[in-house]
Amino acid sequence: MPRKPYIPPTIQKVANGLFGKNVATSDGPCDTIDSIPVDYLTSQYGSPLFVFSEETLRQQYRDACRAFSSRYPEVQFAWSYKTNYLKAICNVFHQEGAIAEVVSEFEYEKARAADVAGCDIILNGPCKSRPLLQQAVDDGAQIQLDHFRDIEQLEQIAAVANTTVEVGIRLTIETGLEPAWSKFGFSCESDEAERALQRLADSRHLQLVGLHCHIGTFVLDTNQYRRAVERMAAFAVRATQEFGCTIKYINTGGGFASRSTLHSQYLPGDDVTPSFDDYAKAICGTLLEQLPPRMHRPKLYLETGRALVDQAGYLITTVLDARLKDDDSRAAIVDAGVNLLCTAAWHRFNVWPAQELPGDSDATTIYGPLCMNIDVVCSAAPLPPLSPGDQLVLHPVGAYNITQSMQFIMYRPAVVMLGSDGEVDVIREREQLGHVEALECLPERLQSGNQRMGTTLASSSQ
Ligand SMILES: Cc1ncc(COP(=O)(O)O)c(C=O)c1O
Repeated sequence: MPRKPYIPPTIQKVANGLFGKNVATSDGPCDTIDSIPVDYLTSQYGSPLFVFSEETLRQQYRDACRAFSSRYPEVQFAWSYKTNYLKAICNVFHQEGAIAEVVSEFEYEKARAADVAGCDIILNGPCKSRPLLQQAVDDGAQIQLDHFRDIEQLEQIAAVANTTVEVGIRLTIETGLEPAWSKFGFSCESDEAERALQRLADSRHLQLVGLHCHIGTFVLDTNQYRRAVERMAAFAVRATQEFGCTIKYINTGGGFASRSTLHSQYLPGDDVTPSFDDYAKAICGTLLEQLPPRMHRPKLYLETGRALVDQAGYLITTVLDARLKDDDSRAAIVDAGVNLLCTAAWHRFNVWPAQELPGDSDATTIYGPLCMNIDVVCSAAPLPPLSPGDQLVLHPVGAYNITQSMQFIMYRPAVVMLGSDGEVDVIREREQLGHVEALECLPERLQSGNQRMGTTLASSSQ
């Protein structure tokens, strides 16, 4: 993997304090990321460029672990692959102690290829094929069932193998979050969860040992977790006392908001994001309150994605053109659009200039490079007047943007990770034509068309 230790040409500037605003304040540039100058990064790896801070990833993980482990006896984080499944990112979390949470054959294979043991994989999601379930059983993965078809298929697999498989079920609980994530799991709002419990109690091959619930993402109100955990604890008590189950784990899923991401319904400057301690108080506190004192304390799983990775990710982009719109408001076109930033639809990123720029700040619309009017990265970023070639830093962009980015019109950019000793490592190369066309096939009868068209055009112009 290409690796460039940063030998700073600008070391004097850093020493003199000309660089070094690690994360910009609203009135200053973000000219470095983890002490590495932004212009150095783009000179080496191009623009746009995704940049991840390894130190931030590790710090976020440790903060989250401390918040929960200091409040509950047994806690295990499972890294949500869908949130960002670059190998380097997953491995940072695995090194820190996270197991893997996956929701598809692709993610499962990725985790296994990264040497995650089967028993350290939680398999979730509504689309578990029979071969995937078979593989998960063979590997001893922790399977969380989503619907009755999952139950049927797994039961058949276990019956053929004449074995008993321990399972978890996903519960759907209305906590007041709108819209409710009712597509998934067995609903506690109808008799569905109860029927699943009965179905598993009657099963000769499946044994209920876990309860899972993922109420949604970017959940800003910790009371939503209190409500979910109350219901899960009540369900655990019922499963134990009336159905003789031993509930070994309760999994409260993911959903914590990332700090300093401004949800579009809030004004810039509002910090409405609960801390890991706030979430941990709600979840651990409720669990300890609700479980009867003599009942065995199930292990607590968390599948936190966004809140661990979002803040560690930056996107550097370059201004291609700057103009005034018809209403005299400011606009700029940059080289990164919604092809790379799917979360632009509902997040307001911080947008900072990467260099000192003269002039007063004013609301500026930042458009991406795509030939679509909806390619708006930010609708009112407070920025000084911009010129072509200026660089901007968008933050936080570490969650979901890499995994959901589209190859559309543009190549996807390189991704680098900054180590704590000034290392700059490419963790994904910039896309090239060969990558994009690798899976395309051109039938033989279509292979000579371009030359013929060339001949036709040439002869018609004579
Ligand atoms: C089952 C499950 N677990 C965990 C996550 C991660 O959620 P977040 O990134 O909001 O923490 C998701 C996200 O959709 C999910 O569906």
